[in-house]
Amino acid sequence: MHSSSFVLVLAAAFFTAIPSVHALPSGNLPSPSNFETVTVLPDGAYEGFTYPNGTVVATSVDTIEKRTYVRHATPQIAERSAGPDKRFVSCWNQPFDHSGVDRTANCLRDRAKKAGGIDLRSGAGPYFSSCISEAVQVYYCVNAGNSWGNADLVDINYGLQQMDSRCAAYDASYFQWDGTVGIVGKARADTPICLG
Ligand SMILES: *[C@@H]1O[C@H](CO)[C@@H](O)[C@H](O)[C@H]1NC(C)=O
Repeated sequence: MHSSSFVLVLAAAFFTAIPSVHALPSGNLPSPSNFETVTVLPDGAYEGFTYPNGTVVATSVDTIEKRTYVRHATPQIAERSAGPDKRFVSCWNQPFDHSGVDRTANCLRDRAKKAGGIDLRSGAGPYFSSCISEAVQVYYCVNAGNSWGNADLVDINYGLQQMDSRCAAYDASYFQWDGTVGIVGKARADTPICLG
């Protein structure tokens, strides 16, 4: 009983610590003084969302001062990644640098290991938790608005294993839990993810 209320308190602290960018109505960026526009997101751990046009709003969660970045997709990339199909596991045939995949997967695992796991509540649209390293991102996504998703280490490992068993290892891919809006995926860092 005590441990569960402890988890709730931790979860509350976690939520208040992160600017609620995902509560923005779709269509508006955060006020310009609150973010930095970048062409490449720095390596690190993030939470955020992607507008349907591929523009990403991501807030760092591994730095003392939370920083929010906006990255606009290039038209080619927005087009290439439009409309991911909804198969159980989707392989994109886009092999990656192994160390980037290993580092980002371990970063996401570390976050999933924390009390309460990765706990995401989406706002107007889908919401993600991601890690970026060496031009690769590994992410957990609640792929719908007004939804909740939680992934612990077992879940993240399961999703990563499903991808590895069905796609070439170190290939861009994602796994969606059957009948849920939860996705674990890996993609190039410049690919818009979690598009609903
Ligand atoms: C994408 O949409 C968002 C929200 O409407 C907007 O703020 C942003 O400027 C758009 N990006 C581009 C490249 O037009």
